[in-house]
Amino acid sequence: MSALTELCKQIANCRDCELANYRTKVVPGEGPEDADLLFIGEAPGWNEDQQGRPFVGAAGEFLDQLLASIGLSREQVYIANVIKCRPLQNRDPLPAEIRACSKWLDRQVEIIQPKIIVTLGRYSLAKYFPGEGISKIHGKPRKCDNVVYYPMYHPAAALHQGSLRKIIEADMLQIPQILAQYEKMPEEVNARQLELF
Ligand code: URA
Repeated sequence: MSALTELCKQIANCRDCELANYRTKVVPGEGPEDADLLFIGEAPGWNEDQQGRPFVGAAGEFLDQLLASIGLSREQVYIANVIKCRPLQNRDPLPAEIRACSKWLDRQVEIIQPKIIVTLGRYSLAKYFPGEGISKIHGKPRKCDNVVYYPMYHPAAALHQGSLRKIIEADMLQIPQILAQYEKMPEEVNARQLELF
């Protein structure tokens, strides 16, 4: 069994926070183990909880269209969430739930070793760009320790706020170019490196 399949089995059995008591199915994530692109959303909604698959509702339909706009299907990328179980009534996950779940996403990143991590929405933004605001940094890639982090608005945001649709579409269209320039893209000096000076 591949490392990622084994990990998804462990995630499916996780009972490390309260959300385990309310879920229908765990939503570990899906895609190829050697994916160049890892998209990270927030948490499963009702549809995802029913099916055990990420982004299968209305936001997922838009994500599929966005991927198609750059010639990709969802089978060619890895799609995961910060939180693997649905918070009841789609409430915001609690900090303790995010902490309990973070090991799973960290392990997914270690195994997949994506070239680009695309953050979708506020929880993955907060994980990789703490303290920063999406309206300022969306569509601006940053390379750090050989991974390009690329913040985007959540696809569901366009469903609530039509004006964001074009912004999300334009940000997605940049991804092929970022991938093509991945090797040449300079590393950012990050806070951790600065501490070493
Ligand atoms: N929204 C998310 O952030 N993730 C899903 O899987 C579905 C909707």
